[in-house]
Amino acid sequence: MSTVVGFVSQKGGVGKSTLARALAREAAAGGLAVKIADLDHEQGTSTNWARRRMAAGLEPVVPVEPFRTAADAFKAAEHVDLMIVDGPARASAGTLEIAKGSALVVQPSSTSVDDLEPAVLVFHSLVRAGIPRAKLAVALVRVGTEAEEGFARSYMAEAGYDVLPGALLERPAYRQAQNDGQAVTEVRFKGLSERADALVQAIIDRAGL
Ligand SMILES: Nc1ncnc2c1ncn2[C@@H]1O[C@H](COP(=O)(O)OP(=O)(O)O)[C@@H](O)[C@H]1O
Ligand SMILES: [Mg+2]
Repeated sequence: MSTVVGFVSQKGGVGKSTLARALAREAAAGGLAVKIADLDHEQGTSTNWARRRMAAGLEPVVPVEPFRTAADAFKAAEHVDLMIVDGPARASAGTLEIAKGSALVVQPSSTSVDDLEPAVLVFHSLVRAGIPRAKLAVALVRVGTEAEEGFARSYMAEAGYDVLPGALLERPAYRQAQNDGQAVTEVRFKGLSERADALVQAIIDRAGL
């Protein structure tokens, strides 16, 4: 049985690809047959990241394949244990399609109201379309302080959505790691890799993997 985890948002640059890659890396390291479906097929950023990873000779190999539609990605999911759908930005219809086929839908957000508010709207529209709230979770990335994290958690609690335990701090090292084909869980600063690990583990647990 294969599991599909989808990463969605209406805004770009929130951290979908960052978390999709980290989940894929850790699941592959744990022995699962995994693939990232890069639905941002025009930009193909995760596809290009996988090329950088390959060129750097990093293990485990993280397979990434571009797909034009979520339906195409779901079809290919039967060949793996875990299909990770790395969604494009700004596509409401596409977001619903991804959510319908996913066991878990993760929406990354920073802690600012400018990011939290649109994230809530995306989840509201999914719930209105019949997606169960239990399938939806926010992952906090780009956190600056504990106070910011606390604020974001209460904001989302008020809106009625779960926030995964753990959070990524806003750190240049996470960008650098991905420039080099690494996942954020592979960053060489132990505190940062442990934080990324904890967030990825929360996704793994929540997806029932
Ligand atoms: N916690 C973080 N700290 C610093 N930079 C980050 C962090 N998370 C993501 N980034 C960077 O932000 C940019 C956008 O992230 P990305 O995962 O590509 O977003 P999306 O896939 O949602 O468009 C990338 O350059 C990524 O390296
Ligand atoms: Mg992306």
